Amino acid sequence: MEDSVLKFYDELAEDYHLIFVDWHLAIARQSEILYKIIQSKLNLSSMQQVSLLDCSCGIGTQAIGLANYGFHVTATDISAVSVKRAEKEAARYGVKINFGVADFRELNTYVSGLFDIVLSADNAIPHLLTDKDLHKACQNMYEKLHHNGLLLVTIRDYDAMVIEKIITTHPNVLDEGKRMTFQVYDWAEDGKTYTVKQFIMREINGEWKTKHNSTQYRALLREEINKVLRMIGFVNIEWHFPENTGYYQPILTARKV
Ligand SMILES: C[S@@+](CC[C@H](N)C(=O)[O-])C[C@H]1O[C@@H](n2cnc3c(N)ncnc32)[C@H](O)[C@@H]1O
Repeated sequence: MEDSVLKFYDELAEDYHLIFVDWHLAIARQSEILYKIIQSKLNLSSMQQVSLLDCSCGIGTQAIGLANYGFHVTATDISAVSVKRAEKEAARYGVKINFGVADFRELNTYVSGLFDIVLSADNAIPHLLTDKDLHKACQNMYEKLHHNGLLLVTIRDYDAMVIEKIITTHPNVLDEGKRMTFQVYDWAEDGKTYTVKQFIMREINGEWKTKHNSTQYRALLREEINKVLRMIGFVNIEWHFPENTGYYQPILTARKV
C-alpha cells in the first residue's frame, strides 16, 4: 500500500459525502441490505448481543447505519481525519460507536476484543497492492472474529473491470447541475493495478471549483481473494451479486470455523 492512500482519504474526508448522490440515503439503503445478508447468515435473535467491527469505516457510511440497527459497532480506519468526521456524524445520528484509528493489517495490535462480524466495505482491500499485504489484512480480520464469526467485504467487480478496462466513470451531475463527480482510471500496462483520479467539481457563487485526488488500486480478482481466505482458514466463502442483493458492489461473505 502506498502513502497516497492515506493522503487521498485524509484530504477527501471533509467532502467524501459529495461523491454520493445522497449520502444519508446511502447510509439507510446500504445498511438495510447488509443487515439482511447478516441476518441470513447469522440467524439473529437479539441484536443487542451482536458485535461488529467495521475496519475501513471512512466517514461512517456503513458503521452508522448498522449501529442504527442495534449492532454494537466498533469502527476503525487508517485515516484519522475520516474517523474524526465519522465521530461527528455518528453524534449527529445519535448512535454510539467505539471509534479508533487502525490499519487493517494491524488490527490485532490496535483493536481490542473479538467480534461476531468484521466488515470492510466499499473497495478498501484493493488498496493493498501485494499478496503479502492482502494476506496480512485478511489474517488480522480472521483473528478479530469469534469462532463461527462472519466476514463481510464489498469490492468492485474487478472480474468484469479487467475485461472492460474502463478509463472513466459517467459523470454524476447533481444539485441541479451545480455539482459533478467522476473518476478517471489510468491502468498499468500489465492491467493488474490502476491509478484512480477522483474529481469533485462544484459551482460556488458562480465559479467552478475542482477538487482532484489520486490513489492506486489493485484490480483484485475474486479468485485471488478466495485463495487467500482459504489459506487462512475461512470457510463458506460466497459472493453475492448486485442483481440479487440490490447492493452496488459484489459482497463477499465467509466464516471463521
Ligand atoms: C472507499 S472508502 C470507504 C469508506 C466507507 N466504508 C464508506 O463506504 O464510506 C475506503 C476506506 O478504506 C480505508 N482504508 C484504506 N486502506 C486501509 C487500511 N490499510 N487500513 C484501514 N483502512 C484503510 C480508507 O482510509 C477509506 O476510508
